[in-house]
Amino acid sequence: MVNEKKVAIVGCGFVGSSSAFALMQSGLFSEMVLIDVDKNRAEGEALDIAHGMTFAEPMKIYAGDYSDVADAAMIVVTAGAAQKPGETRLDLVNKNVNIFKSIIPEIKKSGFDGILLIVSNPVDVLTYAAIKMSGLPEGHVIGSGTVLDTGRLQQMLGAHVEVDPRDVQAYVMGEHGDSEFVAWSSAQVAGVPLNTFCELHGHLEHEAAEKRIAEDVKNSAYTIIEKKHATYYGVAMAVKRICTAVMRDEQTVLPVSSLMVGEYGLSDLAISMPTVVGRDGVVCRVPVPLNDDEQHELTASAKALKDIIDSVDF
Ligand code: LAC
Repeated sequence: MVNEKKVAIVGCGFVGSSSAFALMQSGLFSEMVLIDVDKNRAEGEALDIAHGMTFAEPMKIYAGDYSDVADAAMIVVTAGAAQKPGETRLDLVNKNVNIFKSIIPEIKKSGFDGILLIVSNPVDVLTYAAIKMSGLPEGHVIGSGTVLDTGRLQQMLGAHVEVDPRDVQAYVMGEHGDSEFVAWSSAQVAGVPLNTFCELHGHLEHEAAEKRIAEDVKNSAYTIIEKKHATYYGVAMAVKRICTAVMRDEQTVLPVSSLMVGEYGLSDLAISMPTVVGRDGVVCRVPVPLNDDEQHELTASAKALKDIIDSVDF
């Protein structure tokens, strides 16, 4: 019997503990299990967050193990090595696929049949691995994908056109990584095509601005890692946004990573595209129109991921 108010987080490093902190403030759950190979770390994070309880939402938060996850509504997996300065997300694949080989089978063995949210990097490859290893329905396994990248794009575009970033509709698609791209041809601000909106406001150097912003989004993690050695708050807020869409059955469109079944001519890989997200995870994928350049970039991104998937022994 699924406990609709229970979540488990596997991995209590910077991303996992920040996600726990964000979810604890969300009011979505009243029970949270923290699992980490370093039990002390899990216990410490649980105690630290529990002590703030009276200032937020009452909830039961404790360090546990895989025997505690069977009835969880969602499991968020953040475990794995994180990028070091100069490392790409794809460089982490062998290390983290091996870590997943010790995590996902335990989740499967527990009898968990809720929604599995993968955050560890390289998130698209690990989402694909989790789909293969977990035996869960494909749509019940989603990756955080380019949700954070899209949030970065909205924030930078919003600053550029001086509009609330929540009124910017634009997607980063493809790999959550170096081959990601912006679907500029469908970008809008308050329902007005982006270029039209910019011209109305006197921003005329579209090409240069779009190039700069797309590069800044793509390189955000590298920039932050150079300065503070890791990223965690942005992705934790993306985790909270995805969990909210699932637990409130919002049918929200988010660019999560999920298994493609022919969209844009792609299949048998997980990659990010706009997707309706609800209580059962993936409701449907929304193939927003892409121009020729964007289709080319998506195909190239998918190839980069497929080459990695084909080289890994899941
Ligand atoms: C980042 C990590 C979550 O983009 O990949 O900050």
